Amino acid sequence: MNNIAITIFGGTGDLTYRKLMPALYTLFKRHLLQDNIQICAIGRRPYQNDDYRQIIYNWIQNYARLKVNEQELQNFLLHVIYFKMDFTNLNEYQQLNFFFKNKIFDQHVIYFAVAPNYFEIISKGLSQANYIKQPKIILEKPFGTDLNNARELSQKLEKQFGKKQIYRINHYLGKEMVRNILTVRNTNPLFAHAWNKDFIESIHISAFETVGVETRGSYYDQTGALKDMVQNHLLQILSIVAIDNPQNNIADEQYKIFKSLKPFTLAEIKKHMVLGQYEGYTKEEKVNPLSQTETYAGLKLYVDHPRWKNVAFYIETGKRCQKRAITVTIKFHRINKNIPANILQIQIQPTESINLSFNIKTPGQDSISSVNMNFCQDCNLQFKLNTPEAYERMILSCLNNDDTWFAKWDQIEICWQYIQKLKQLYTAANLPIYIYKQGENHPHEF
Ligand code: BG6
Repeated sequence: MNNIAITIFGGTGDLTYRKLMPALYTLFKRHLLQDNIQICAIGRRPYQNDDYRQIIYNWIQNYARLKVNEQELQNFLLHVIYFKMDFTNLNEYQQLNFFFKNKIFDQHVIYFAVAPNYFEIISKGLSQANYIKQPKIILEKPFGTDLNNARELSQKLEKQFGKKQIYRINHYLGKEMVRNILTVRNTNPLFAHAWNKDFIESIHISAFETVGVETRGSYYDQTGALKDMVQNHLLQILSIVAIDNPQNNIADEQYKIFKSLKPFTLAEIKKHMVLGQYEGYTKEEKVNPLSQTETYAGLKLYVDHPRWKNVAFYIETGKRCQKRAITVTIKFHRINKNIPANILQIQIQPTESINLSFNIKTPGQDSISSVNMNFCQDCNLQFKLNTPEAYERMILSCLNNDDTWFAKWDQIEICWQYIQKLKQLYTAANLPIYIYKQGENHPHEF
């Protein structure tokens, strides 16, 4: 890799501080970024380079995956430049353009680490910046604010930057254990032959967080759990778990699964969807005091495909829940109703592990006991050190022109359609947004 620039819109945002800078530092430390990389963070605040470097110094110290080495961190910071501008003001893009005058890069990655309602203004601004040549664009999710907006945006951005230059990131696809799902399934006959309705009763995909909306109230209140987590992260995991033919192109196979998601009628929706809001949410900073935005979403879905006939896919996500955990739990059919089910659980976060519960004869008795076999991946220091954080992996893939694990437009479009329809039905059926206590996981059973 040669001469690279990475420019980040949203340089003073939570994502940049918490995820992007620590990931870039780790890539630098691992010698995966070349020595003359230039990282330009754009923000409105009146910082000098040194102020900004001091701020990210602290974030990197707290959030970098690998132990921070002071000298390496100082070296890294020299590659970071702060550029003050108001990116919503089109008049300010000429300054940015001049900043890049006479700087020749082999590739220039522009990261839109901002809410989707800013994508358009930034691309308009960039259209005036002729010194930024053929940039690659990384777009954060959710892509667009709704289906129509996403369609329009997609067309505009592809026209302006070129289809191949656009990388729609979904960092869940960079998580090690999400990638492991296919390997566990494909390489173990025990699971490969049982990955269907004849053996599996239900699949539960959940992503619970203990944090609330933190500093992102204004973005989150416009978005909610369905658009923030389900439409992208959780449906993507579902599509990977449910892939019919893992030997084929993954993106095409995922698309087929999205297309097979069973639609519901108004009468059915009550049994398939629950939305909730944590107590105190409306008092959060920059949240409408009368907000009806959901911070929890629970769905019971079906994939209309012979492999998955009658297999329930439960999807759940919530903020301010009891504990932080992302898991995929596969429950197999019981031999009979008196015998516990075998359960395969893939833990994606915060620990990375695989747990299999199966039945044995209770020692000394004739009864049956369910016991666990557990493989803890990140308890192995070498495995842990070798596991890149999701953003490290995704940024590196973009630099290497590998878009395999980036979300494709047709997938995003179909997921928008599906989720939007469900939300419309929920509203039309007059179903409530259940209030749940902070620290609880289930606002309402369904
Ligand atoms: C982001 C969502 O995409 O994912 C956040 O916008 C959420 O609301 C975050 O907190 C969770 O990511 P992770 O990697 O911590 O599970």
